[in-house]
Amino acid sequence: MMDDVLSADVIKKGLKTRFIGQRVLYYPSVDSTMEVARQEARRGAAEGTVIATDEQTGGRGRLKRTWLTPVGNIALSVVLYPKLSYLPSLIMLASLAVVHSIESATGLRPQIKWPNDVLINGKKVCGILIENDVQGNGVNYSIMGIGINANLRLADFPEIQTTATSLSDELGREISRLNVILHLLGEIERYYLAISAGESIYEEWRDKLVTPGKKVRVTAGETTYEGIAESVTRDGSLLLRGTDGSLTRIVAGDVTLRE
Ligand code: BTN
Repeated sequence: MMDDVLSADVIKKGLKTRFIGQRVLYYPSVDSTMEVARQEARRGAAEGTVIATDEQTGGRGRLKRTWLTPVGNIALSVVLYPKLSYLPSLIMLASLAVVHSIESATGLRPQIKWPNDVLINGKKVCGILIENDVQGNGVNYSIMGIGINANLRLADFPEIQTTATSLSDELGREISRLNVILHLLGEIERYYLAISAGESIYEEWRDKLVTPGKKVRVTAGETTYEGIAESVTRDGSLLLRGTDGSLTRIVAGDVTLRE
């Protein structure tokens, strides 16, 4: 395996950011970076605090699924204190930041599958989990969790091999996780400052989505919908045109492309 030893110091030294990653906690192994980040946020950790690890033993995915994080992958969570009105943009921000960091670090060209899976050649290379603690009209904290299949041989993981890929499998060589992380944290800050300044990132996110125009199956809670993914709204919802012509607005769910 590539000599890619990460630490809080190595990450902090490489960063040119103002607040994202000014504090980094790095663990060789942890249950889930989401859990550590949540505890940090509850203690009032500085905005932009990053919790990163080489391995998660209880990695969490969206919709109560598990997330595999063997050594060689990237798993990190960022503590944020956004305004309530920023929350729809955070979902867009995270996937756009991942897309740009992968492009800059590897030259690969990822796309986004609604709401925020990052794909390369149709297979998932990154998952994003955002957990918000909302109270009334305010947000106590948001934790942005990002897991990237970096140096992972999917042949060793037959349970996800048909749906997932990794940067190393796509490139045919191992990559520098540090390089990807530095780009990623820089991009998160750039987009976060943009939305804080009132800029819209919706158009850029919409244009990177593979989903519009595709035949899809969407699972939302106990309900499954089928139809054409027509478009996405400014608040990040998916508009699905059913076979009977009806239009359904889906706020959260899981999409399978059917063609
Ligand atoms: C998904 O696609 O279901 C989301 C996966 C999110 C995984 C990341 S890895 C870092 C952070 N810690 C976790 O336990 N989950 C997120």
